[in-house]
Amino acid sequence: MEEEIKNQENNKKTMQIPHIILKNISKIYGDEKHDEAVIKALDDASFTINKGELTVILGPSGAGKSTLLNILGGMDRASKGSFILNENDKNIDITQLDETNLAKYRRNVIGFVFQFYNLMPSLTAYENVYIASSLVNKHYNVEEVLNLVGLGDRKNNFPSQLSGGEQQRVAIARALVKNPEILLADEPTGALDSKTGAQIISLLYKVAKEQGKTVVIVTHNKAISVIADRIIQVSDGKIVSDQVQENPKKPNEIEW
Ligand SMILES: Nc1ncnc2c1ncn2[C@@H]1O[C@H](COP(=O)(O)OP(=O)(O)O)[C@@H](O)[C@H]1O
Ligand SMILES: [Mg+2]
Repeated sequence: MEEEIKNQENNKKTMQIPHIILKNISKIYGDEKHDEAVIKALDDASFTINKGELTVILGPSGAGKSTLLNILGGMDRASKGSFILNENDKNIDITQLDETNLAKYRRNVIGFVFQFYNLMPSLTAYENVYIASSLVNKHYNVEEVLNLVGLGDRKNNFPSQLSGGEQQRVAIARALVKNPEILLADEPTGALDSKTGAQIISLLYKVAKEQGKTVVIVTHNKAISVIADRIIQVSDGKIVSDQVQENPKKPNEIEW
């Protein structure tokens, strides 16, 4: 039995399948010709994230984290370099997609969680999640996802009737209901107190470990990185380190 578990663990380590492959991505904002300040938000960033990995992208404010996540989410385009998505052993160059196919990528492959939730204020929790589910065919059941995030009994409330943490849970449900392969979260705990932040991180952890999604969390809070399978550090638009963490901690072991 022990032998079997050990074998399974070894297999888990060796069966890593690249999912997100970034090669020499740069992003430049502004145009000198139009008298705009030229900002290199990303400078030659390269890394690979494997399927099912929980990755934390860590860096101070202004480092380029949101720029990076927006490119991964298909909401922004790189100025240079390529971003390859491995989908069922087929490599798709996201940087080469036209607007229609990029929209399909955003809709079908990505679930995105924003720092300030970005819920529709005039829709209930249920309706916010339902709208997202209606965009795709392979979606999960709305009620089930609301139950999963612990909001089954609050589904008829409007965002203004929910706490920050509850709103963020609706936002996670909205991203997750599409059954996306990749869940991206930009500073998902940035607007929350540490206790509520801990619940949100536990939920994202569950999504990676129990649903097998590739989850990328962007944060400036180093404490969160202890749970990551991979930690990518960004500074001044550059990837300054990319480490695999052999024995990540559980969310309840984070020292906030
Ligand atoms: N749309 C934009 N136009 C011009 N500069 C931008 C834009 N978006 C981000 N930047 C700049 O790019 C740099 C990286 O920003 P960002 O990716 O938001 O960093 P982070 O999320 O790590 O705080 C910053 O200097 C920021 O001012
Ligand atoms: Mg940011």
